[in-house]
Amino acid sequence: MSPYKSFRYIENLADFVGQEVTLRGWVQNKTGKGKLQFIILRDGTGICQCVIFKNNVSEELFADAKTLTQESAIEITGTIRAEERAPGGYEMDVTGLKIHSISKDYPITPKEHGDAFLIEHRHLWLRSSRQHAIMRVRAAIVKAIRDFFDGNGFKLMDSPILTPNACEGTTTLFETKYFDLGSAYLSQSGQLYAEASALAMGRVYTFGPVFRAERSKTRKHLTEFWIVEPEMAFFDLNDDMDLAEDLVEYIVQYCLKHCQTELKLLERNIENLEKIKRPFYRMSYSNAVDWLVENKIPLKKKIDGKDVDILPFPWGEDFGAVQEEAIMEQFDKPCIIHRYPAEVKAFYMKRDPEDSKVVLAMDMLGPEKAGEIIGGSQREDNIDLLTERIKKDNLPMDEFQWYLDLRRFGSVPHSGFGLGLERVVKWITGASHIREVIPFPRMIYRIVP
Ligand code: 4AD
Ligand code: MG
Repeated sequence: MSPYKSFRYIENLADFVGQEVTLRGWVQNKTGKGKLQFIILRDGTGICQCVIFKNNVSEELFADAKTLTQESAIEITGTIRAEERAPGGYEMDVTGLKIHSISKDYPITPKEHGDAFLIEHRHLWLRSSRQHAIMRVRAAIVKAIRDFFDGNGFKLMDSPILTPNACEGTTTLFETKYFDLGSAYLSQSGQLYAEASALAMGRVYTFGPVFRAERSKTRKHLTEFWIVEPEMAFFDLNDDMDLAEDLVEYIVQYCLKHCQTELKLLERNIENLEKIKRPFYRMSYSNAVDWLVENKIPLKKKIDGKDVDILPFPWGEDFGAVQEEAIMEQFDKPCIIHRYPAEVKAFYMKRDPEDSKVVLAMDMLGPEKAGEIIGGSQREDNIDLLTERIKKDNLPMDEFQWYLDLRRFGSVPHSGFGLGLERVVKWITGASHIREVIPFPRMIYRIVP
């Protein structure tokens, strides 16, 4: 057996009650008096209190243990005992100790630190129990997403990150030099490639990081974020919305099943998550505008540098956080808003055959101020209308010839959507800022660490 296979981890201690095991990890905290020392050990899978009783160990071991500081790295051996009152439910009666390194003046102490300090120390902050719990939920959500698609006949088709053109508007592109070919752009969305993949494979999803040179300094925007984008041949908007609801229900229910410890540590309201079962709510953009008008929710605009409230909310304007949050106040489950004005949405969205002012788009808004967690649409499959939109948006026609080929050869109705991973992790964990839900956040004012 490879030696690493004999490593033991705190999350599996239930299997080792009454046995002597060695744990490897870091000292989260140490207390003690007289003949007793208590070490709270953290090994990445959980925490375990290790009890050192002077009469059971050598003088040398007891003295070594006294030198341990917060975040010192150790291997510690002892017998495991079930202990209801202990964090994690088990304790170790220590018999052996090996010190890997003593940590000096660890900057993050149990006292409160400001946000700016913590984010600067993100490489260490990740070790704190809340951050650790959020990262475990994030990993569970990624697994839920993969399980959902892999288990429902979808194929993973990775899309490129270096691309020749824009997908989601030209104002948020990161540009980079690309050898003798001029400029390349970091992908804003894998969608256009997912469409090509769907016509090859039927049902696909792409899952990876995307980049937006977005100026918004909100609690919901990153410049680099992860997105999962399913794309399905022969799906119309209704099929697309059904799939989006199934996915979100699956993710939430998966977390409830597998992340109880983490959600409890995060003090997340579990009852609210338990309500996330289909059917969700749905509303057309036009009905949503009627509601905003009735409830006197204004459009917020900056005119000549001044914030102005425009009432009644004018049909045709996009919703911002103010409108989305107002609409969602009434709902305890996600709500899909569909059929937005063509003017505010991307070039690739299909015109509604019943009303050419709107496109077959849908955004899923989450409850509890989660904001937009999904954006998607049925795609324009009429080559003339699509060409017209590409021209109107001043997109480079040459670079889009391959995309138009998808309408020339075997064009079919098709649809897809993008779910922003961090938006969903933020909602499910209840984190107050999106920067806490990705290991190393990228925002306009931050690229280190
Ligand atoms: O609504 P968006 O821009 O849609 C697309 O990119 C489509 N091409 C998706 C598709 O149809 N395949 O982005 C999709 C989702 C949003 O609903 C939101 O959850 C998330 O991506 N998102 C962001 N997350 C964090 N930071 C940002 N700056 C984000 N912008 C969008
Ligand atoms: Mg969107």
